[in-house]
Amino acid sequence: MPARIIGTGSALPEKVVANQELEMLVDTTDEWIKSRTGIEKRHIAVTETTTSMSVEAARRAMKDAGVGAEEIDLIIVGTVSGDLCFPSTACQIQSAIQASNATAFDINAACAGFLFGLSIAEAYIKSGIITTALVVGAETLSKMMDWKDRSTCVLFGDGAGAAVVKGSDAGIMSMVQGSDGARGGALTCHNRAVNNPYVNNGFETDYTKMNGQEVYKFAVKTVPAAITKAMDKAGISADQVKYFLLHQANIRIIEAVAKKIGQSIEKFPTNLQECGNISAGSVPILLDFVNKEGKLERGDIIVLAGFGAGLTWGAAVLSW
Ligand code: UT7
Repeated sequence: MPARIIGTGSALPEKVVANQELEMLVDTTDEWIKSRTGIEKRHIAVTETTTSMSVEAARRAMKDAGVGAEEIDLIIVGTVSGDLCFPSTACQIQSAIQASNATAFDINAACAGFLFGLSIAEAYIKSGIITTALVVGAETLSKMMDWKDRSTCVLFGDGAGAAVVKGSDAGIMSMVQGSDGARGGALTCHNRAVNNPYVNNGFETDYTKMNGQEVYKFAVKTVPAAITKAMDKAGISADQVKYFLLHQANIRIIEAVAKKIGQSIEKFPTNLQECGNISAGSVPILLDFVNKEGKLERGDIIVLAGFGAGLTWGAAVLSW
């Protein structure tokens, strides 16, 4: 049975930090950030956490879908910034929303996390193991940034997006995913420092590091190829697609992808101007913005695509 997204939700931190405010923290300018990335501001968690935003986004998605907690069979969270190593963010959501019938786990596929989660949910639904899933992409990347490093701290933001996915007559038409671990060094963040009496390796906790140009080149090459492959698999042409909802890393990447697949930039909605890059949260939050703006009608064909650390990438073609 095909899997359809039947409801979306999102949650963003209350605090908004504009580019101008970052000029006081690091040697940067609003002009540099805007012209190189398109980003104007981002939401930064002060009291919110990855879990609290995920729970809020999940509740909104369930309300939008008209689905009760007891109906949810599976909860998957794409995140690289869970509040705890364990239990998982998914188990914490399960507890908060009282989805006692669900199996819950997190996955780490960075900015492709929501796409990877969606594909797992689709596989469970298609094979008849479950009927209804909650897929979440959520991050509090602000806690993983070096706020003295201008090359990274200006790019990212915090937030969560969620989708309820259910077996239906139509929905996800195709999914394409890939990984290239050999190029993983282009975007890294260490876990906690080793702290046992047998190790003295001088390794201290560090923060997100990125070779921006390498990731940029990877994105503009891999994303159009993945989208094209997904469209071929679904048997549709780019002209039939109403919207392409891409990971919100950089407006120049989105423009390059639009050009490569020969589609107008008007078909690529964005929210990076006000949200920055929210890694696994980007795609589901953007999907929720577009859905809540009433821009999607049943039967519309849309494409979702995520890409980032791993390196990882994923694209999906779906009928709304
Ligand atoms: O979510 C995961 C996926 N991530 C991505 O897709 C990110 C992909 N990469 C990018 O979007 C871009 O590479 C960046 C936005 C990260 C950087 O843009 P760029 O045009 O590739 O700039 P660059 O790294 O080549 O740096 C150009 C200059 C450098 O100075 P010099 O060496 O030319 O003197 C940097 O030091 O800009 C400098 N720079 C800054 N200047 C002002 C770097 N960051 C800043 C900054 N403010 N915040």
